[in-house]
Amino acid sequence: MKLKFGMVGGGGGFIGNVHRQGAQLDVLAVLTAGSFSRNDEKNKETAALWGVEDSNRIYSSYQEMADTEAALPEDIRIDFVSIVTPNNTHYPIAKYFLEKGFHIVCDKPLALTSEQGEELEKLSREKGLLFGVTYTFTGYAIVKQAQEMVKSGMIGKIINIQAEYPQEWLLVGLNAAHSDQATWRMDPQVSGPSGCCADIGSHAESLIYKITGLRPKRVIAKFDTIPKTLKLETNVQILAEYGDGISGLIWTSQVALGHETELRVRIYGETGSLEWSHIKPWELRYTKINEPPQIYTTSRDYLFPSAQRLCRLPTGHIEGYYEAFGNIYREYCTALIAKKNGQDDQNDHRYDYPTVHDGIKGLYFVEACIESNGKNNTWVEVK
Ligand SMILES: NC(=O)c1ccc[n+]([C@@H]2O[C@H](COP(=O)([O-])OP(=O)(O)OC[C@H]3O[C@@H](n4cnc5c(N)ncnc54)[C@H](O)[C@@H]3O)[C@@H](O)[C@H]2O)c1
Repeated sequence: MKLKFGMVGGGGGFIGNVHRQGAQLDVLAVLTAGSFSRNDEKNKETAALWGVEDSNRIYSSYQEMADTEAALPEDIRIDFVSIVTPNNTHYPIAKYFLEKGFHIVCDKPLALTSEQGEELEKLSREKGLLFGVTYTFTGYAIVKQAQEMVKSGMIGKIINIQAEYPQEWLLVGLNAAHSDQATWRMDPQVSGPSGCCADIGSHAESLIYKITGLRPKRVIAKFDTIPKTLKLETNVQILAEYGDGISGLIWTSQVALGHETELRVRIYGETGSLEWSHIKPWELRYTKINEPPQIYTTSRDYLFPSAQRLCRLPTGHIEGYYEAFGNIYREYCTALIAKKNGQDDQNDHRYDYPTVHDGIKGLYFVEACIESNGKNNTWVEVK
Protein backbone atom coordinates (compact mmCIF):
# COMPACT_ATOMS: atom_id res chain seq x y z
CA MET A 1 0.00 0.00 0.00
CA LYS A 2 1.20 3.50 -0.85
CA LEU A 3 -0.08 6.44 1.19
CA LYS A 4 -1.07 9.80 -0.22
CA PHE A 5 -0.10 12.92 1.65
CA GLY A 6 -0.57 16.66 1.41
CA MET A 7 1.60 19.47 2.67
CA VAL A 8 0.86 22.85 4.18
CA GLY A 9 3.79 25.24 3.74
CA GLY A 10 7.12 24.53 2.14
CA GLY A 11 6.86 26.81 -0.88
CA GLY A 12 10.23 28.50 -1.03
CA GLY A 13 10.88 27.60 2.61
CA PHE A 14 13.51 25.41 4.22
CA ILE A 15 12.04 22.37 5.92
CA GLY A 16 9.13 21.57 3.59
CA ASN A 17 11.48 20.31 0.92
CA VAL A 18 13.24 18.10 3.48
CA HIS A 19 9.88 16.64 4.54
CA ARG A 20 8.96 16.08 0.89
CA GLN A 21 12.10 14.05 0.29
CA GLY A 22 12.10 12.27 3.65
CA ALA A 23 8.47 11.23 3.32
CA GLN A 24 9.06 9.77 -0.13
CA LEU A 25 12.46 8.18 0.47
CA ASP A 26 10.99 4.70 0.91
CA VAL A 27 8.15 5.13 -1.57
CA LEU A 28 5.60 4.54 1.17
CA ALA A 29 3.92 7.89 0.51
CA VAL A 30 3.35 10.15 -2.49
CA LEU A 31 2.90 13.91 -2.36
CA THR A 32 -0.57 14.33 -3.85
CA ALA A 33 -1.90 17.69 -2.69
CA GLY A 34 -0.71 20.90 -1.13
CA SER A 35 -1.19 24.43 0.01
CA PHE A 36 2.48 25.26 -0.21
CA SER A 37 2.28 29.01 0.16
CA ARG A 38 -0.28 31.75 0.67
CA ASN A 39 1.24 33.37 -2.39
CA ASP A 40 -0.65 31.93 -5.36
CA GLU A 41 2.26 32.02 -7.78
CA LYS A 42 4.67 30.43 -5.29
CA ASN A 43 2.05 27.81 -4.49
CA LYS A 44 1.68 26.74 -8.14
CA GLU A 45 5.40 27.00 -8.80
CA THR A 46 6.12 24.67 -5.86
CA ALA A 47 3.46 22.18 -6.94
CA ALA A 48 5.03 22.02 -10.43
CA LEU A 49 8.53 21.67 -9.01
CA TRP A 50 7.46 18.88 -6.66
CA GLY A 51 5.37 16.96 -9.17
CA VAL A 52 1.84 17.65 -7.89
CA GLU A 53 0.23 17.48 -11.29
CA ASP A 54 -3.48 17.63 -10.54
CA SER A 55 -4.25 21.35 -10.45
CA ASN A 56 -7.48 20.59 -8.55
CA ARG A 57 -5.34 19.50 -5.64
CA ILE A 58 -3.28 22.67 -5.33
CA TYR A 59 -5.18 24.69 -2.76
CA SER A 60 -5.08 28.37 -1.96
CA SER A 61 -5.59 27.77 1.78
CA TYR A 62 -5.22 24.91 4.25
CA GLN A 63 -8.95 25.16 5.06
CA GLU A 64 -9.84 24.65 1.40
CA MET A 65 -7.47 21.72 1.23
CA ALA A 66 -8.90 20.00 4.32
CA ASP A 67 -12.52 20.63 3.29
CA THR A 68 -12.06 19.49 -0.32
CA GLU A 69 -9.90 16.46 0.47
CA ALA A 70 -12.31 15.33 3.21
CA ALA A 71 -15.13 15.31 0.65
CA LEU A 72 -13.20 13.05 -1.76
CA PRO A 73 -13.73 9.26 -1.74
CA GLU A 74 -11.51 7.49 0.78
CA ASP A 75 -9.33 5.81 -1.85
CA ILE A 76 -8.61 9.17 -3.52
CA ARG A 77 -8.16 11.63 -0.67
CA ILE A 78 -4.89 12.19 1.20
CA ASP A 79 -4.17 9.97 4.21
CA PHE A 80 -2.09 12.47 6.15
CA VAL A 81 -0.88 16.02 6.02
CA SER A 82 2.61 17.37 6.77
CA ILE A 83 2.59 20.78 8.46
CA VAL A 84 5.77 22.71 7.74
CA THR A 85 4.73 26.30 8.32
CA PRO A 86 6.02 28.72 11.01
CA ASN A 87 5.22 27.94 14.66
CA ASN A 88 2.09 30.04 15.24
CA THR A 89 0.18 28.18 12.51
CA HIS A 90 0.84 24.59 13.69
CA TYR A 91 -2.02 24.48 16.19
CA PRO A 92 -4.82 25.92 14.01
CA ILE A 93 -3.76 23.88 10.97
CA ALA A 94 -3.36 20.60 12.89
CA LYS A 95 -6.68 21.14 14.67
CA TYR A 96 -8.49 21.81 11.42
CA PHE A 97 -7.13 18.67 9.74
CA LEU A 98 -7.72 16.49 12.81
CA GLU A 99 -11.33 17.62 12.93
CA LYS A 100 -11.69 16.56 9.31
CA GLY A 101 -10.24 13.13 10.15
CA PHE A 102 -6.71 13.36 8.76
CA HIS A 103 -3.57 11.89 10.29
CA ILE A 104 -0.83 14.45 10.97
CA VAL A 105 2.91 14.99 10.79
CA CYS A 106 3.85 18.37 12.23
CA ASP A 107 7.19 20.02 12.70
CA LYS A 108 8.35 21.30 16.09
CA PRO A 109 7.51 23.18 18.22
CA LEU A 110 4.15 21.41 18.19
CA ALA A 111 2.23 24.56 19.18
CA LEU A 112 2.70 27.88 20.95
CA THR A 113 1.52 26.59 24.36
CA SER A 114 1.31 23.21 26.07
CA GLU A 115 -2.47 23.72 26.46
CA GLN A 116 -2.75 23.84 22.68
CA GLY A 117 -0.56 20.74 22.43
CA GLU A 118 -2.70 18.88 24.97
CA GLU A 119 -5.80 19.76 23.00
CA LEU A 120 -4.26 18.36 19.83
CA GLU A 121 -3.29 15.14 21.60
CA LYS A 122 -6.80 14.76 23.03
CA LEU A 123 -8.35 15.31 19.63
CA SER A 124 -6.02 12.85 17.90
CA ARG A 125 -6.76 10.21 20.55
CA GLU A 126 -10.52 10.74 20.34
CA LYS A 127 -10.43 10.46 16.56
CA GLY A 128 -7.92 7.59 16.52
CA LEU A 129 -5.49 9.54 14.32
CA LEU A 130 -1.71 9.21 14.19
CA PHE A 131 0.25 12.35 15.02
CA GLY A 132 4.01 12.50 14.45
CA VAL A 133 6.30 15.39 15.40
CA THR A 134 9.58 15.65 13.50
CA TYR A 135 12.35 15.85 16.07
CA THR A 136 14.86 15.24 13.30
CA PHE A 137 17.88 14.13 15.28
CA THR A 138 16.05 11.20 16.85
CA GLY A 139 15.98 9.65 13.36
CA TYR A 140 19.74 9.06 12.98
CA ALA A 141 20.76 5.40 12.92
CA ILE A 142 23.70 5.84 15.26
CA VAL A 143 21.49 7.71 17.74
CA LYS A 144 19.33 4.59 17.85
CA GLN A 145 22.52 2.62 18.55
CA ALA A 146 23.31 4.99 21.44
CA GLN A 147 19.82 4.42 22.84
CA GLU A 148 20.27 0.64 22.66
CA MET A 149 23.70 0.83 24.31
CA VAL A 150 22.32 2.83 27.23
CA LYS A 151 19.35 0.48 27.54
CA SER A 152 21.55 -2.60 27.59
CA GLY A 153 23.76 -1.20 30.36
CA MET A 154 26.89 -0.55 28.30
CA ILE A 155 27.64 2.70 30.18
CA GLY A 156 26.17 1.65 33.53
CA LYS A 157 24.03 3.97 35.58
CA ILE A 158 23.87 7.44 34.05
CA ILE A 159 25.50 10.11 36.22
CA ASN A 160 25.67 13.23 34.02
CA ILE A 161 24.33 14.61 30.73
CA GLN A 162 25.91 17.42 28.71
CA ALA A 163 24.40 18.82 25.52
CA GLU A 164 24.99 21.82 23.35
CA TYR A 165 23.51 23.15 20.16
CA PRO A 166 25.38 26.21 18.95
CA GLN A 167 24.48 27.80 15.61
CA GLU A 168 25.57 31.07 14.03
CA TRP A 169 22.95 31.38 11.32
CA LEU A 170 20.53 33.74 13.05
CA LEU A 171 23.17 36.42 13.51
CA VAL A 172 24.33 35.85 9.96
CA GLY A 173 20.70 35.85 8.70
CA LEU A 174 19.74 39.04 10.51
CA ASN A 175 22.72 40.79 8.98
CA ALA A 176 21.91 39.49 5.49
CA ALA A 177 19.96 41.71 3.09
CA HIS A 178 16.80 39.68 3.61
CA SER A 179 16.01 36.61 5.64
CA ASP A 180 12.37 35.68 6.18
CA GLN A 181 13.40 32.79 8.40
CA ALA A 182 15.49 34.89 10.78
CA THR A 183 12.80 37.59 10.86
CA TRP A 184 9.85 35.38 11.81
CA ARG A 185 11.91 33.43 14.33
CA MET A 186 12.50 36.66 16.28
CA ASP A 187 8.84 37.77 16.14
CA PRO A 188 6.93 36.54 19.24
CA GLN A 189 3.65 36.72 17.28
CA VAL A 190 4.95 34.07 14.88
CA SER A 191 7.62 32.22 16.80
CA GLY A 192 5.84 32.16 20.17
CA PRO A 193 7.04 33.08 23.66
CA SER A 194 10.50 31.59 23.13
CA GLY A 195 13.09 31.97 20.39
CA CYS A 196 16.24 29.85 20.59
CA CYS A 197 15.00 27.59 23.41
CA ALA A 198 11.91 26.46 21.48
CA ASP A 199 13.63 26.47 18.10
CA ILE A 200 16.67 24.35 18.92
CA GLY A 201 16.75 23.76 22.69
CA SER A 202 13.79 21.48 22.04
CA HIS A 203 15.98 19.42 19.67
CA ALA A 204 18.64 18.97 22.37
CA GLU A 205 16.00 17.94 24.92
CA SER A 206 14.36 15.42 22.58
CA LEU A 207 17.75 13.95 21.64
CA ILE A 208 18.65 13.44 25.32
CA TYR A 209 15.30 11.76 25.89
CA LYS A 210 15.76 9.54 22.83
CA ILE A 211 19.12 8.24 24.04
CA THR A 212 18.55 8.07 27.80
CA GLY A 213 14.79 7.89 28.28
CA LEU A 214 15.22 10.79 30.73
CA ARG A 215 13.51 14.17 30.76
CA PRO A 216 14.45 17.05 33.07
CA LYS A 217 12.39 17.14 36.26
CA ARG A 218 13.42 20.70 37.05
CA VAL A 219 15.49 23.40 35.38
CA ILE A 220 17.25 26.68 35.95
CA ALA A 221 17.44 28.66 32.71
CA LYS A 222 19.16 31.88 31.72
CA PHE A 223 18.12 33.50 28.45
CA ASP A 224 20.24 36.13 26.69
CA THR A 225 18.91 38.34 23.94
CA ILE A 226 21.81 39.16 21.65
CA PRO A 227 21.68 41.69 19.99
CA LYS A 228 19.60 43.43 22.65
CA THR A 229 17.29 45.00 20.04
CA LEU A 230 15.67 41.60 19.36
CA LYS A 231 12.43 40.53 21.02
CA LEU A 232 13.32 36.92 21.86
CA GLU A 233 16.28 35.09 23.33
CA THR A 234 19.06 33.91 21.06
CA ASN A 235 21.37 32.28 23.62
CA VAL A 236 20.22 29.90 26.37
CA GLN A 237 21.95 28.12 29.24
CA ILE A 238 20.09 25.50 31.24
CA LEU A 239 20.99 23.56 34.35
CA ALA A 240 18.79 20.46 34.48
CA GLU A 241 18.03 17.76 37.05
CA TYR A 242 16.80 14.43 35.73
CA GLY A 243 16.11 12.75 39.08
CA ASP A 244 18.06 9.98 40.79
CA GLY A 245 20.99 12.37 41.33
CA ILE A 246 21.53 12.94 37.60
CA SER A 247 22.20 16.50 36.53
CA GLY A 248 23.25 18.12 33.30
CA LEU A 249 23.76 21.24 31.26
CA ILE A 250 22.27 22.34 27.97
CA TRP A 251 23.60 25.31 26.00
CA THR A 252 21.88 26.41 22.82
CA SER A 253 22.73 29.48 20.82
CA GLN A 254 21.92 30.96 17.44
CA VAL A 255 24.52 33.69 17.70
CA ALA A 256 27.59 31.50 18.20
CA LEU A 257 29.79 32.60 15.32
CA GLY A 258 31.91 29.81 13.92
CA HIS A 259 29.32 27.09 14.60
CA GLU A 260 26.96 25.91 11.88
CA THR A 261 24.57 23.21 13.12
CA GLU A 262 26.69 21.66 15.83
CA LEU A 263 24.37 19.67 18.06
CA ARG A 264 26.38 17.50 20.44
CA VAL A 265 25.42 15.29 23.36
CA ARG A 266 27.59 13.51 25.92
CA ILE A 267 26.14 10.91 28.27
CA TYR A 268 28.30 9.84 31.19
CA GLY A 269 27.67 6.63 33.11
CA GLU A 270 29.40 4.85 35.98
CA THR A 271 31.12 2.38 33.65
CA GLY A 272 31.25 4.17 30.31
CA SER A 273 30.31 7.21 28.26
CA LEU A 274 28.84 8.06 24.86
CA GLU A 275 29.31 11.11 22.67
CA TRP A 276 27.41 11.99 19.50
CA SER A 277 27.89 15.06 17.40
CA HIS A 278 26.01 16.28 14.35
CA ILE A 279 29.34 17.27 12.79
CA LYS A 280 29.97 13.60 12.01
CA PRO A 281 26.51 12.14 12.55
CA TRP A 282 27.48 8.65 11.41
CA GLU A 283 29.91 8.25 14.32
CA LEU A 284 29.39 7.43 17.99
CA ARG A 285 32.25 7.64 20.48
CA TYR A 286 32.07 5.02 23.21
CA THR A 287 34.45 4.87 26.13
CA LYS A 288 34.38 1.97 28.54
CA ILE A 289 35.97 2.45 31.94
CA ASN A 290 39.75 2.09 31.74
CA GLU A 291 39.75 1.37 28.00
CA PRO A 292 40.66 3.60 25.07
CA PRO A 293 37.71 5.31 23.29
CA GLN A 294 36.13 3.43 20.36
CA ILE A 295 34.32 4.92 17.39
CA TYR A 296 31.18 3.09 16.28
CA THR A 297 30.03 3.85 12.73
CA THR A 298 26.90 3.12 10.69
CA SER A 299 26.16 -0.02 8.66
CA ARG A 300 28.39 -2.28 10.72
CA ASP A 301 27.49 -5.79 11.84
CA TYR A 302 28.27 -4.94 15.44
CA LEU A 303 25.34 -2.51 15.65
CA PHE A 304 22.11 -3.48 17.36
CA PRO A 305 19.64 -4.77 14.73
CA SER A 306 17.24 -1.88 15.43
CA ALA A 307 20.02 0.61 14.58
CA GLN A 308 21.27 -1.46 11.64
CA ARG A 309 17.74 -1.34 10.21
CA LEU A 310 17.96 2.47 9.98
CA CYS A 311 21.19 2.41 7.93
CA ARG A 312 20.68 2.81 4.21
CA LEU A 313 24.15 2.84 2.63
CA PRO A 314 27.28 0.70 2.95
CA THR A 315 29.84 1.67 5.60
CA GLY A 316 31.65 4.93 4.89
CA HIS A 317 28.97 6.32 2.58
CA ILE A 318 27.66 9.38 4.31
CA GLU A 319 24.07 9.44 5.54
CA GLY A 320 22.56 12.48 7.16
CA TYR A 321 19.63 14.83 7.51
CA TYR A 322 17.43 13.52 4.68
CA GLU A 323 17.90 9.94 5.83
CA ALA A 324 17.02 10.89 9.42
CA PHE A 325 13.79 12.41 8.14
CA GLY A 326 13.30 9.33 5.99
CA ASN A 327 13.65 7.10 9.05
CA ILE A 328 11.05 9.06 11.01
CA TYR A 329 8.66 9.01 8.05
CA ARG A 330 9.26 5.31 7.41
CA GLU A 331 8.22 4.47 10.96
CA TYR A 332 5.24 6.80 10.78
CA CYS A 333 4.06 5.55 7.38
CA THR A 334 4.53 1.91 8.36
CA ALA A 335 2.44 2.52 11.47
CA LEU A 336 -0.23 4.23 9.40
CA ILE A 337 -0.32 1.47 6.79
CA ALA A 338 -0.64 -1.09 9.59
CA LYS A 339 -3.43 0.93 11.12
CA LYS A 340 -5.25 1.20 7.81
CA ASN A 341 -4.93 -2.57 7.51
CA GLY A 342 -6.55 -2.88 10.92
CA GLN A 343 -3.36 -4.13 12.55
CA ASP A 344 -2.48 -1.36 14.93
CA ASP A 345 -3.34 1.80 16.77
CA GLN A 346 -1.36 4.76 18.00
CA ASN A 347 -0.91 3.33 21.49
CA ASP A 348 1.24 0.57 20.08
CA HIS A 349 4.88 1.57 20.48
CA ARG A 350 6.24 -0.89 17.96
CA TYR A 351 6.75 2.03 15.61
CA ASP A 352 9.52 4.34 16.67
CA TYR A 353 8.71 7.90 15.72
CA PRO A 354 8.26 10.98 17.91
CA THR A 355 4.59 11.61 18.61
CA VAL A 356 2.33 14.45 19.65
CA HIS A 357 3.08 13.38 23.23
CA ASP A 358 6.79 14.08 22.71
CA GLY A 359 5.77 17.42 21.23
CA ILE A 360 3.90 18.28 24.44
CA LYS A 361 6.85 17.22 26.59
CA GLY A 362 9.01 19.56 24.51
CA LEU A 363 6.58 22.40 25.22
CA TYR A 364 6.60 21.64 28.98
CA PHE A 365 10.40 21.87 28.90
CA VAL A 366 10.40 25.19 27.05
CA GLU A 367 7.70 26.65 29.32
CA ALA A 368 9.67 25.69 32.46
CA CYS A 369 12.76 27.36 30.99
CA ILE A 370 10.80 30.54 30.19
CA GLU A 371 9.42 30.59 33.73
CA SER A 372 12.81 30.04 35.34
CA ASN A 373 14.36 32.82 33.29
CA GLY A 374 11.51 35.15 34.25
CA LYS A 375 11.95 34.31 37.94
CA ASN A 376 15.58 35.40 38.09
CA ASN A 377 16.90 31.97 37.14
CA THR A 378 15.39 29.93 39.97
CA TRP A 379 14.51 26.24 39.91
CA VAL A 380 11.24 25.45 38.14
CA GLU A 381 9.60 22.02 37.98
CA VAL A 382 8.99 20.67 34.48
CA LYS A 383 5.43 19.40 34.14
N1 LIG B 1 12.78 19.51 12.43
C1 LIG B 1 13.73 20.35 12.06
O1 LIG B 1 14.90 19.98 12.06
C2 LIG B 1 13.36 21.74 11.63
C3 LIG B 1 14.27 22.52 10.91
C4 LIG B 1 13.85 23.78 10.47
C5 LIG B 1 12.59 24.25 10.77
N2 LIG B 1 11.74 23.47 11.51
C6 LIG B 1 10.38 23.96 11.84
O2 LIG B 1 9.64 23.95 10.63
C7 LIG B 1 8.75 25.07 10.58
C8 LIG B 1 9.05 25.87 9.32
O3 LIG B 1 10.36 26.36 9.38
P1 LIG B 1 11.16 26.84 8.06
O4 LIG B 1 12.53 27.14 8.51
O5 LIG B 1 10.98 25.84 6.97
O6 LIG B 1 10.38 28.18 7.72
P2 LIG B 1 10.31 28.91 6.33
O7 LIG B 1 10.00 30.33 6.63
O8 LIG B 1 11.52 28.61 5.52
O9 LIG B 1 9.10 28.21 5.59
C9 LIG B 1 7.76 28.36 6.01
C10 LIG B 1 6.86 28.10 4.83
O10 LIG B 1 5.51 28.12 5.24
C11 LIG B 1 4.74 28.81 4.25
N3 LIG B 1 3.50 29.25 4.89
C12 LIG B 1 3.36 30.05 5.96
N4 LIG B 1 2.05 30.12 6.33
C13 LIG B 1 1.36 29.36 5.46
C14 LIG B 1 0.00 29.01 5.29
N5 LIG B 1 -0.94 29.49 6.11
N6 LIG B 1 -0.34 28.20 4.27
C15 LIG B 1 0.59 27.70 3.45
N7 LIG B 1 1.90 27.98 3.55
C16 LIG B 1 2.29 28.80 4.54
C17 LIG B 1 5.66 29.89 3.74
O11 LIG B 1 5.28 30.29 2.45
C18 LIG B 1 6.99 29.13 3.71
O12 LIG B 1 7.12 28.38 2.54
C19 LIG B 1 9.00 25.85 11.88
O13 LIG B 1 8.00 25.53 12.81
C20 LIG B 1 10.35 25.37 12.37
O14 LIG B 1 10.47 25.37 13.77
C21 LIG B 1 12.11 22.25 11.93
